[in-house]
Amino acid sequence: MLILGIESSCDETAAAVVRDGREILSSIIASQIDLHRPWGGVVPELASREHLEKIEPVVDEALAKANVTLKDIDAIAVTQGPGLIGSLLVGVCYAKALAWGLDIPLVGINHIEGHVYSINFENPPVEYPALALIVSGGHTNIFHVPREGKYKVVSRTRDDAAGEAFDKVAKMLGLGYPGGPVIEKLALEGDASRVKFPRAKISDGRPDMSFSGLKTAVSRYVKENNIAPLQNGDIPAQEIKDLAASFQNAVVSALVHTLEKLGVELRPKTLIVAGGVACNLALRSAAEASARKLGIPIYFPSKHLSTDNAAMIAAAGYFHIKNGERADPSMTADITLRLQNLDVEQLKGKAKYRL
Ligand code: KG4
Ligand code: ZN
Repeated sequence: MLILGIESSCDETAAAVVRDGREILSSIIASQIDLHRPWGGVVPELASREHLEKIEPVVDEALAKANVTLKDIDAIAVTQGPGLIGSLLVGVCYAKALAWGLDIPLVGINHIEGHVYSINFENPPVEYPALALIVSGGHTNIFHVPREGKYKVVSRTRDDAAGEAFDKVAKMLGLGYPGGPVIEKLALEGDASRVKFPRAKISDGRPDMSFSGLKTAVSRYVKENNIAPLQNGDIPAQEIKDLAASFQNAVVSALVHTLEKLGVELRPKTLIVAGGVACNLALRSAAEASARKLGIPIYFPSKHLSTDNAAMIAAAGYFHIKNGERADPSMTADITLRLQNLDVEQLKGKAKYRL
């Protein structure tokens, strides 16, 4: 089965052709990073206009690269949410029109579930139950996945996503956007033990995470030590490299500590780490070490599948299409879409788990 995946939830316009959920025939990504860089973050209005410009050429390129035409496509999977409404609508409207015109099935995919499926292409099949850490610019959650397609949030950030913390700290230090890759690069030459940042404690004892206190601690450290943000072309001083390494270390240790704790408790058969921050090699090696300790296999997507792409959306779509699911014509973009579909009743009245 050939599925055309379409992703436009944030600042990447992407299309991919995937065979049977596991083989990528093409994966095209038009990144808007350069467009948003001068603003230090994604500007929603600019993002949706750019998606509108790029969606058709990106889909055409994905088909051409896969050496297929629209007639060969069996179904379409499109990101339905969460994300920026204007951005999502471009992909959803385009996919709906295309599926209707071709008279083929369409499914709307949760973007976070897409990240879970990003490990499908280069790893052995997942054994369930699995534990999945999805860590990106917009999300930081750990899901218990007792069987394919069933998700329960067992940990989440109470405030900022980990990727957002990377981006905000980079902005504070004048390092540019997005923050993750540049902080990772500087951290390679920094001393992670130079600044000790305490791990956030969650007062109700849940295995949740928090990164906004860490961001404030970095800001305080910058002020107290008179560290000036870099100007264009400045060479970063050693204290900035040390700060980058210490900050990265604090984020990685919070993520891996939580994953390991839940790994001990839930004894999954597979660990999954995915999302933009999964590009980070310090996170990968710490998570790998932890998985070795637990004796559980751990799967990551390769770098180009860690950040937003449409191949992961097509892979998730394959599962749903095979499951007999079809989007009806009233399907539309949903910025509040949640992935948790287990034990939701039980959580009512307790702390709200927002994905
Ligand atoms: O998954 P993604 O492309 O978009 C969202 O769904 O949010 O993730 C983008 C995020 C950004 O916050 C970026 O700073 C972060 O992933 N990121 C990294 C690295 N590469 C990207 N964070 C840490 N280290 C990296 N190497
Ligand atoms: Zn994403």
